[in-house]
Amino acid sequence: MFNPIQTTIQPIPDCYLNMSQDVLEQHIQNIKDTLGDKLFMPTHHYQKDEVVQFADITGDSLELAHICRNNRQADYFVFNGVHFMAETADILTDNDQHIYLPDLTAGCSMADMANINQVLYCHHRLTNDYTLNLLPLTYVNSTAAIKSYVGQHDGTCLTSGNARAIVHWALEQDKTILFLPDQHLGRNTAYQLGVPLEHMAVWDPIQKRLEYEGRKDQLRIILWKGHCSVHEKFHKVHIDQARQQNPNVNILVHPECPFDVVQASDYAGSTRYIIEMIQNAPTGSHWRIGTEMNLVNRLKATYPKIHIDSLNPLMCACLTMNRIDLPHLAWCLDKILDGQHDNVIKVDDATAYYAKKSLDRMLSID
Ligand code: 13P
Ligand code: SF4
Repeated sequence: MFNPIQTTIQPIPDCYLNMSQDVLEQHIQNIKDTLGDKLFMPTHHYQKDEVVQFADITGDSLELAHICRNNRQADYFVFNGVHFMAETADILTDNDQHIYLPDLTAGCSMADMANINQVLYCHHRLTNDYTLNLLPLTYVNSTAAIKSYVGQHDGTCLTSGNARAIVHWALEQDKTILFLPDQHLGRNTAYQLGVPLEHMAVWDPIQKRLEYEGRKDQLRIILWKGHCSVHEKFHKVHIDQARQQNPNVNILVHPECPFDVVQASDYAGSTRYIIEMIQNAPTGSHWRIGTEMNLVNRLKATYPKIHIDSLNPLMCACLTMNRIDLPHLAWCLDKILDGQHDNVIKVDDATAYYAKKSLDRMLSID
């Protein structure tokens, strides 16, 4: 039986940091050739180009979840993304398929804004003090423990790619939605589906209180007070400035951006939606995009006949996604060859059982 060994995170050995890019690339390619179909590298669109070049497949969170679930031949998945994505892949794959995260410090600041104890406390307060009948939904950008809590309470996961369909499904139940952990995705999606802002509340996990001034019978959705530290850096003033500079510019943003930004944009949608909008954009058209910088730069390079810039001229990439680089990838692949397991992401069986229910429900609604 495979037993991943839990270790403290070791610093990367100097030998990997001292290798030239050419040597690292050759090393990685050699191991890919050696392992063949036993190795599979799903890679999120926010990864750097140096990593994307080795991807077996690139995708957004939803696409990568589908792809991992359907891959039955790989023994080793090297997940070029962040921790919650690797956990999701582990839950959706067989027990004898092992998920490696090349840098164990590649987390997600949004996922870190909700831990299971905070969520259980919130659930207790909302069901006891406010006597609400809750239907929890969680963005996949959350821990496996939170996905498991959601699965136990008949809720579902969602991603930016299916948020509309899932929130629509949830609104049809006779319950109050608890939307974790991204308030912006929750607010933007519910509003798009016709829920007025006055019928939405916010749960503040730090102050441990519900922010709501309306009538209880009108409360439709409670938004967890979390956000993405990348997408919150887009502001309405950036849109005003872009339109001043060029009245014909198209503003395209991800729904993790704040409400006023999404409202002032021309188009808002998931990573897949953003890519498709640019793929179909007329030659010579002008775009300002509000999403992660590696993706914006890649779109810019891929479509040189379309004028693309970041909506925030001072934007940088997602720092945690960027922790995956060639030295960590090479080190991780060497560990696979050596039979070392310290980069394996393994969700315990009890947590995985209900977390899988919330993911399966999402994939069936989608
Ligand atoms: P999607 O891949 O669902 O668009 O999410 C974006 C994101 O922030 C991933 O961490
Ligand atoms: Fe998390 Fe935002 Fe980075 Fe995505 S872009 S991994 S939500 S911090």
